[in-house]
Amino acid sequence: MLNIILMGPPGAGKGTQAKKLIAKYNIPHISTGDMFREAIKEGTPLGKLAASYINDGHLVPDDVTIGLVKERLSKDDCANGYLLDGFPRTIPQAEALEVIAKEIGREVKYVIDIETPKEELVRRICGRRVCKKCGAPYHIINIKPKVDGICDICGGELVQRPDDNEEALTVRLDAYVKQTKPLLEFYKNKGLLTTFDGSNSSDLTPKLIAFLGE
Ligand code: AP5
Ligand code: MG
Repeated sequence: MLNIILMGPPGAGKGTQAKKLIAKYNIPHISTGDMFREAIKEGTPLGKLAASYINDGHLVPDDVTIGLVKERLSKDDCANGYLLDGFPRTIPQAEALEVIAKEIGREVKYVIDIETPKEELVRRICGRRVCKKCGAPYHIINIKPKVDGICDICGGELVQRPDDNEEALTVRLDAYVKQTKPLLEFYKNKGLLTTFDGSNSSDLTPKLIAFLGE
């Protein structure tokens, strides 16, 4: 079963690769960042709470995030696998995921880490535009839409994320190094971790597919 975690710093290309992989493997893309942004758009209590952390680049508290993922993973569409993007991001989240996954009989099989140099992350984040409707990521230079400012997939308007500015990015990179990077060791010790070079990843998707299998 393709129970996958996609890891990597902000801008590594998790969302970009996830969209391609789910099209191939027909498993749900579970991005906690996307779920929080959806809640913010809808103005729900979860959205209001999440916004107070996300917009400045801080992590949303573990109990909130774990509860959200627990509910999502128990849905029927995860029966044949799932692709987690941006979760877990702390050791307590990873430990909680182990318990949840065991409970529902859907244990993690692959942890894919996309490594990308810091200067490239800054370039990508500052030039990123995302679809207001479906969240698909583009880049003003690297990955342009067919029509300027319009999403290729759903025709939605392309906008900049509120946390895609240099100030918030500094906080996000710091959170990644201090809170998320220790997870690489955690999963390496479990024999689940595989690292891929995301720096020039126009050809990363075929490599990931070759690794995961047809
Ligand atoms: P989240 O939405 O997960 O953001 P992130 O981890 O900072 O990662 P990004 O979405 O910024 O980058 P990405 O790796 O997906 O890159 P992308 O494919 O878009 O989380 C946002 C916030 O939500 C967090 O800061 C936190 O507050 C909260 N949150 C979420 N999960 C949480 C959790 N578990 N616990 C607590 N809080 C949580 O690509 C980036 C750009 O580069 C795009 O413009 C793209 O077009 C371009 N690009 C991609 N690949 C390439 C390539 N190969 N070459 C050139 N350009 C490329
Ligand atoms: Mg993303």
